[in-house]
Amino acid sequence: MHIEENKSLKPYNTFGIEAVASHFAKVQSVDELAALLSMPEYPHPFILGGGSNMLLTKDIDTLVIHIALKGIEIVEETENDVYVRAHAGENWHNFVLWCIAKDFGGVENLSLIPGNVGGAPIQNIGAYGVELKDVFVSCEAFDISEKKIKTFHLKACNFGYRESIFKNQEKGKYIITSVTVRLTKGNHQLRTQYGDIQAQLEANGIANPTIRDVSNAVIAIRQSKLPDPKEIGNSGSFFKNPVISIAQLDDLKRNFPDIPNYKVSDTEVKIPAGWLIEKAGFKGKTFSNYGVHKKQALVLVNYGGAKGKDIFELSQLIRKTIYRIFNINLATEVNIV
Ligand code: EPU
Repeated sequence: MHIEENKSLKPYNTFGIEAVASHFAKVQSVDELAALLSMPEYPHPFILGGGSNMLLTKDIDTLVIHIALKGIEIVEETENDVYVRAHAGENWHNFVLWCIAKDFGGVENLSLIPGNVGGAPIQNIGAYGVELKDVFVSCEAFDISEKKIKTFHLKACNFGYRESIFKNQEKGKYIITSVTVRLTKGNHQLRTQYGDIQAQLEANGIANPTIRDVSNAVIAIRQSKLPDPKEIGNSGSFFKNPVISIAQLDDLKRNFPDIPNYKVSDTEVKIPAGWLIEKAGFKGKTFSNYGVHKKQALVLVNYGGAKGKDIFELSQLIRKTIYRIFNINLATEVNIV
């Protein structure tokens, strides 16, 4: 296995930020991963997956291990369901397309999410009314201190909205190596209730959608709002949608009667952070080579050559402003490195 020195990480992060890794290696098997993790020269390596949910604000002065474990396989079939395992280095969207080509249903709403399979359980990826947890069976992860593979079933992952044990209690202890999902072989349970999907299907004149139609609708919606990282650097939603109490919502409604909100429990609602950021005047704002996306205020963008620090400072300015206007604390969804 080759360890490169002074490697540019620009092609490895969807924000397109220039940062240099002092050492860099790509692993294609669990054995290679285990070998690298036992090298005494690099006691605290940096694990890099698809690089789609991080903002690099500095160079990385240790070994960067890029997880490139490949493969998708059917592990079990029942009359109605199929269990499919995808290895961590597979591109998530290619995995979704693989499932659709085989007519396996369950992940079509998660089309076009950037990043790799290995990152999916860490933040329980979600879009258009579906989260990974809805199809998740288990994942395998390399235990860094015990140097062996461990299996985590659904319950053990403690999934929440963009949350899991891998981001919280067990942060930094495991490296996801594969994910197994349960999908339907026919009789698919389509989830098209999410407003935009229904409207998109109707616009396409589709009354009885297939999973491919739903996937195509999701792709069209995402392409209309979210910048393609190949063209404009970004990491999707930069912030999480905040959850506030109904009492606070009632209070805010006095000044902002049109504030959108979605019930999450009898006492709490979720507010679209994109709306707050737009209302605060940041939508489409550009500061030389970075800014807030024109079509979706929740996405910060690098127009080319921006520094991670500048984008981080913009995010702090947005957080302060939102707190001042709405008394709401925005949590960052993207990992700041
Ligand atoms: N909105 C605005 N202005 C904006 C953006 C949004 O007013 O500039 C308001 C509108 O009221 C709109 C509502 O926000 O109806 C919701 O917007 P959208 O449907 O675009 O969804 P979102 O809440 O902004 C979330 C996820 C996305 C996911 C979409 C679709 C989070 C943090 N983000 O965005 O996930 O694709 O729903 O399900 O939950 C990601 O995690 O990187 C990501 C892109």
